Amino acid sequence: MPADDLKELLAATTERSVRYLKDIETRRVSPSNEAIAGLARFDVPLQNEPIDPRTVLAQLDEIGSPATMAMAGPRFFGFVIGGSLPVALAANWFASAWDQNTGLFNSTPATAALEQVALKWLLDVLQLPRDCAGAFVTGTTVAHITALAAARHAVLKRAGWDVEANGLFGAPPITVIASAEAHPTLFKALGVVGLGRNRVVKVPVDSQGRMLAATLPKISGPTIVCAQAGNVNTGSCDEIEAISTQAHQSGAWVHIDGAFGLWARVAPSRAHLVEGVEHGDSWATDCHKWLNVPYDSGVAFVRDGDALRKSMAISAEYLPTETAQRNPSDFTPELSRRARGVDVWAAMRSLGRAGLAEMVERHCRQARRFADGLSAAGYQILNDVVLNQVLVSFGEPEFTRRVIAAIQNDGTMWAGETVWQGRTAMRISVIGWSTSDADVERCIEAIIRIASVARVPARAI
Ligand SMILES: Cc1ncc(COP(=O)(O)O)c(C=O)c1O
Repeated sequence: MPADDLKELLAATTERSVRYLKDIETRRVSPSNEAIAGLARFDVPLQNEPIDPRTVLAQLDEIGSPATMAMAGPRFFGFVIGGSLPVALAANWFASAWDQNTGLFNSTPATAALEQVALKWLLDVLQLPRDCAGAFVTGTTVAHITALAAARHAVLKRAGWDVEANGLFGAPPITVIASAEAHPTLFKALGVVGLGRNRVVKVPVDSQGRMLAATLPKISGPTIVCAQAGNVNTGSCDEIEAISTQAHQSGAWVHIDGAFGLWARVAPSRAHLVEGVEHGDSWATDCHKWLNVPYDSGVAFVRDGDALRKSMAISAEYLPTETAQRNPSDFTPELSRRARGVDVWAAMRSLGRAGLAEMVERHCRQARRFADGLSAAGYQILNDVVLNQVLVSFGEPEFTRRVIAAIQNDGTMWAGETVWQGRTAMRISVIGWSTSDADVERCIEAIIRIASVARVPARAI
């Protein structure tokens, strides 16, 4: 493609992206039924001849953009995910232009070096042991898989078993302990690494979904204890410090799911919630959550770097493994992958410690404001709002579901439905970098307006 054409294509993409991001500040958050129906226009028979890339981009924008959920906008509060900081989006584009397959230092020195720095900064801001090994992966699900593979290696090595060489056939059994409120991705990951979704010893939780050290079962033999920083419903955190101490006394490995909760470390007013989290052996977190970088951006940290390396290292005649530098693919499940750490480096470099802390503090304050505003209007908040999560019930389950559907349909904002300890609730997760206090006030007003109209029997409306 001639340079001028490339420039035109990328400039047009920039223009479309800027328009999209501007529009989602004002358009409805959920796509209209009409826009969703329009997606059928993508489904044409694949033609024989090439098409002008500008036409392809135009189709993506014209058909796709209206049918997107405005997750990148300021009033999307579903799924604890967050948007993309402009600098992270820009770095992501730039890294795509570089197109570096970041498996080996020799072939991709710039991105391998950037990722190493990004890992160092993450360990620093999250206040985890600085000599941890780390891996950039797609998200917390794969971070669990990565960390649990390292855990499996270490606990079986201590039992005299080489799991990478021999697999789990005939291996000493590993006990896995997790809370009844562990995130479903943890169970999925346990299934993937051969530890089983259903043979986990599940520990009951308290009213906020916390696993307490006093309820841990007696530990013996090769054991992995999985704790959680940030319950996906309530935002509450397990008693990680005491759980780690107890687990370590019996030689167990402690894995911590800190998908979003680990970021409480950066906010002075919330850090107490995750006190002692540095005592874990492995951690899984998402940068596409509270750091607000584009998907897919998860990280696994492992204190015993050798265990991670032994479980992930790869070698082949054609791969230059002998290097003084760190090869990322020795620590990640994938060989080929995009340079995820570039967006992370850019987001942290731009925000600095203070910017990151301000963002997390602001979201927690805004969550509190949601809770206060809705509770003042007579609706029940089901959780202690300790972090960025708010669970609100509008009354009977059927009515609550009706209000949530009406809120989603109204388009001012979007929040999802959940059931918390038997009670149906709307789950508001405040985590998008662009959410302003004015957005929060507007959403509180919308929720109260919609819920009070929904209270009127349907025939009277
Ligand atoms: C506590 C917790 N663990 C794991 C996950 C899954 O993360 P991912 O979707 O990045 O795999 C989430 C997602 O919200 C979560 O809140």
